[in-house]
Amino acid sequence: MNTSIQASRTNLGFVTLVSIVAAIGGLLFGYDTAVISGAIGFMQQKFNLDSVMTGWAVSCLMIGAIIGAGFAGALSDRFGRKRMLVLAAILFSVGSIGSAIPTTISQFVVARVVGGIGIGVSSTLVPLYIAEIAPARYRGRLVSLNQLAIVIGISAIYFVNRTVANAGGPAWDISTGWRWMFGLGIAPGLVFMLLLLLVPESPRWLEKQGRGDTAIRILERINGLQQAQLEIEDIRESLKNETGSMGQLFQGGFRIALLVGVVLAILQQVTGINAIMYYAPEIFKKTGAGTDASLTQTIIVGAVNLIFTLVSLWLIDRVGRKVLLLIGSALMAISLLVVGYAFHTGNTAGPLVLVFVLLFVAAFAVSFGPIVWLIIAEIFPTRIRGRATAIASVALWAADYVVSQTFPVLLSGVGSAITFWMFAIMSIIAFLFTLSVVPETKGRSLEDIERMWGAFKR
Ligand code: BGC
Repeated sequence: MNTSIQASRTNLGFVTLVSIVAAIGGLLFGYDTAVISGAIGFMQQKFNLDSVMTGWAVSCLMIGAIIGAGFAGALSDRFGRKRMLVLAAILFSVGSIGSAIPTTISQFVVARVVGGIGIGVSSTLVPLYIAEIAPARYRGRLVSLNQLAIVIGISAIYFVNRTVANAGGPAWDISTGWRWMFGLGIAPGLVFMLLLLLVPESPRWLEKQGRGDTAIRILERINGLQQAQLEIEDIRESLKNETGSMGQLFQGGFRIALLVGVVLAILQQVTGINAIMYYAPEIFKKTGAGTDASLTQTIIVGAVNLIFTLVSLWLIDRVGRKVLLLIGSALMAISLLVVGYAFHTGNTAGPLVLVFVLLFVAAFAVSFGPIVWLIIAEIFPTRIRGRATAIASVALWAADYVVSQTFPVLLSGVGSAITFWMFAIMSIIAFLFTLSVVPETKGRSLEDIERMWGAFKR
């Protein structure tokens, strides 16, 4: 059955509002991954951290995120998307307060892991929840609101950190300032928690639970009664063909879905975005820029990320996922090759490095940034969507952990040129993988996508 959505019937205002509320989870994601960048210097002095402990204080969040993403799937298939998002908001808020009040670094690590679990849960379930509630023709854009929120969160925290750092003298920054940077996270955490109480549960999850009456009421609010009836029949039909066992992921076309989800998740990280996001000022300092100039350049990176995420939102349901991934990975590869070349030849004094780092960030922002989270939320069958998405999400966070841990080691070991060329090779692999394996999912309902995998030869 064809579930293409009639634009005129879609209550875009309602579904956009619901998606915006869910996307606050992305804001927390951006806030929490970037807040440490402004705080870590003061914490080093406060707690006398050596380089190992510094690395641990930064990366323990990702360990929490891996754990959270791992559990999010199974728990959300069982208890629902909405309840788990509320839990994520609670964990995030507890983590924020806990990170603000520790007297020892171990207490801090525990609090960050708790917050990280919340981030892992919300990073997995926000895209999935929006994908399950959004009409097919707007799904790309609506799910990508999550990425927009991540980027806004990252940019906002740079300003929060700077404002806090300037609010007192150096001694105050070391004793107290950094605590505010973490503690202020309670505000978006609580807002997320309260607003979540107002949004509906995912209609697809409700139908799977046998609560079709509620599901159809929600679909009706989104698309009108007639379309809702068509959709619910389609969802029922799909669910009938699903076993609900994870074994399904290793059969027929679903194997390819799993491959696409996990490989794209890893490629999103190993192409090096967070080497730039987490270490940008250090990279710019290597080009000879002073501290102030390197911080300004970092702010420009944030602005470019934001602007091109908006461009992606505009394009994603028009030109499709695959074309954007191809253009994006090609441009990422080219810019990384040039950045590597600049370091190789020592030609780093001019604007070359900045310009091509910005091109890389722009290319990532229109492609692998939003689209990977979107694709992993839309390609799996409904009964196991939570668990399957979680596998890809765990792979993504683990790859993030590996890249952010090894980047400084690579820089001092093999040097900047080879490090950026390694990321360039990964971008070329990303291009080839997209070209040969990734299918286009633009405009298709989730049930349509499921049938597409089913049609693959066993
Ligand atoms: C990635 C993050 C990254 C962010 C940058 C997200 O899609 O998952 O790791 O920091 O984009 O904009």
